[in-house]
Amino acid sequence: MTQPHGFFITLEGIDGAGKSTQARALGAWAESEGREVVLTREPGGSAGAEEIRRLLVEGAPDRWSGETETLLFTAARRDHLERVITPALAAGKVVISDRFADSTRVYQGAARGELRGFVDALHSLAIGREPDLTLILDMDPEVALARGLARASGEDRFEEEGLAFQQKLRAGFLALAEANPARCRLIDAGRPAEAITADVITAVREHMR
Ligand code: TYD
Repeated sequence: MTQPHGFFITLEGIDGAGKSTQARALGAWAESEGREVVLTREPGGSAGAEEIRRLLVEGAPDRWSGETETLLFTAARRDHLERVITPALAAGKVVISDRFADSTRVYQGAARGELRGFVDALHSLAIGREPDLTLILDMDPEVALARGLARASGEDRFEEEGLAFQQKLRAGFLALAEANPARCRLIDAGRPAEAITADVITAVREHMR
């Protein structure tokens, strides 16, 4: 039996858009189709990257400069890619990551001053890989923010920055979807979870052959 090709899917969107619920549902579906699945997340996803995650999600919002923050996210991503994503894809698995490089483009690049050039240069130098398919879960930030803060996880450094920030992020993700139509699919996430999952699976079916 020939080994299936690895397939790399990322879920993106503003805080509280329901990405992790959809990642789990998608993983269960892919397994039911007979695929081996690696469910992972950023920042984090490997032992080293999870350590870096703590530096990023805890503490005051102004703890790092935009540049330093971008370097930390990229260092975490490089470790995640080397230790988890690349080996799993080489073994023919479906990798589903809750966030990846588009989050850095939007959070650090678009929302925090004019860092996009820095973000893009660092990405090509240190990462140099795009997902096969990116599902952007789009929803009203007011609803998403209410959900996100309600979780009170102690990891609220980004979520504390408020509605205007989330609105900027939403616009950033919409712009990315428009600029990368071959790789990105926009999903309306302001609906019941089952309806979102149905769209997520349809998009993956169309791309994963
Ligand atoms: P995450 O754990 O996905 O939070 P949530 O489940 O609330 O969406 O990510 C933590 C925070 O880190 C989130 O606010 C988004 C932010 N982030 C960046 O700013 N840049 C990045 O490159 C990544 C991966 C995440």
